[in-house]
Amino acid sequence: MPPYAAQQTRNILIIGSTGVIGTYITRAIVDARENFERICVLTTEKTLVEKVQDIAALEAWGVEIFTARLESERAVKRAYEGIDTVVSCVGRAGIEKQINLITWAEQAGVRRFFTSEYGTDIEYWPESAQEPPHQLKLKVRAHMKTMKRIEHTYLVTGPYSDLYFGTMKARPELGEFDVKAKKAVLLGDGNGPVSFTAMADVGKFVVAALVNTNASRNATLIVHSFTATPHEILAEYEAQTGTKWEKSYTSVERLREIEKEEYQVYSALATVVTLRRIWTEGGTLYKYYDETILGHIETETLESQVAANIRKQEDGEGNFPSLLRKLSLF
Ligand SMILES: NC(=O)c1ccc[n+]([C@@H]2O[C@H](COP(=O)([O-])OP(=O)(O)OC[C@H]3O[C@@H](n4cnc5c(N)ncnc54)[C@H](OP(=O)(O)O)[C@@H]3O)[C@@H](O)[C@H]2O)c1
Repeated sequence: MPPYAAQQTRNILIIGSTGVIGTYITRAIVDARENFERICVLTTEKTLVEKVQDIAALEAWGVEIFTARLESERAVKRAYEGIDTVVSCVGRAGIEKQINLITWAEQAGVRRFFTSEYGTDIEYWPESAQEPPHQLKLKVRAHMKTMKRIEHTYLVTGPYSDLYFGTMKARPELGEFDVKAKKAVLLGDGNGPVSFTAMADVGKFVVAALVNTNASRNATLIVHSFTATPHEILAEYEAQTGTKWEKSYTSVERLREIEKEEYQVYSALATVVTLRRIWTEGGTLYKYYDETILGHIETETLESQVAANIRKQEDGEGNFPSLLRKLSLF
């Protein structure tokens, strides 16, 4: 083995396993279980009570469950025992808590930490450093630089097509594709390409990064499923529904106005507006993904994601299937 070769991933601890993207990541890791020895999750007592079915599904798959408050060094370190790789998928409110989680991981002998990224490239261009939604993730990366031994992997995926291709009930002006009303609100002039990753593909990319330990060692992996403009997405919706849709546009200038309004009232939507403005300005990927890094991965396409969203909206299905519900599909 060459001196720089990273050791294989054997024992994984997932933090945030029942969250929006954690669900997909956990499912993909479980599906690839022949590559690993132990798959564990660290969750809270609250989740044990509130997501009984998800926890039961995890147990049925042979996943070991640990509980801890993310602030509890002793309990977190107990969960870290024997773990070589932590995959964090904590939500935005938990991003900063990763600073301690990383320090404790290094102290406990964890070799690799995947921080909760799975989104917009926070170091895309100089302006990225000032964007409010990036601040805590940037702080986590800065902390990681101060670590001595622990390795990192940052998986950057751009926006999830599953969400972008859906409705935006809270504020349709922020862009949406409404299958029932056959109406679309397109961002910018509709011609700006955006690179998307389907949520299921985020799980596949994480597994590929876990398996290809050398390629993902201390790396920022920028991946995506496909690239499309709002006009191309609309054209695909029109082709698949067999009819013309009504369309309107929200310019970048208008997005900036909305952004100001939402920040002034401390709205949770503010982060969403900023990210959508960044994507519309071209501040996300559309670099071609280099398959030599992680190997070829079969991904979702513009066509398959539009088809999935039509089904989802026609069935009135919620955006985020629970782990158990996904289990029943297999
Ligand atoms: N690219 C995109 O379009 C996009 C969209 C959404 C999110 N993201 C990114 O994906 C990552 C995960 O986001 P998400 O929406 O999947 O997260 P989420 O559903 O809000 O939360 C994920 C999980 O975090 C865990 N958690 C524990 N303590 C927490 C705390 N104090 N605050 C917040 N979470 C806590 C919980 O784990 P348990 O399951 O154990 O209870 C929770 O289920 C983030 O980095 C986010 O920025 C990207």
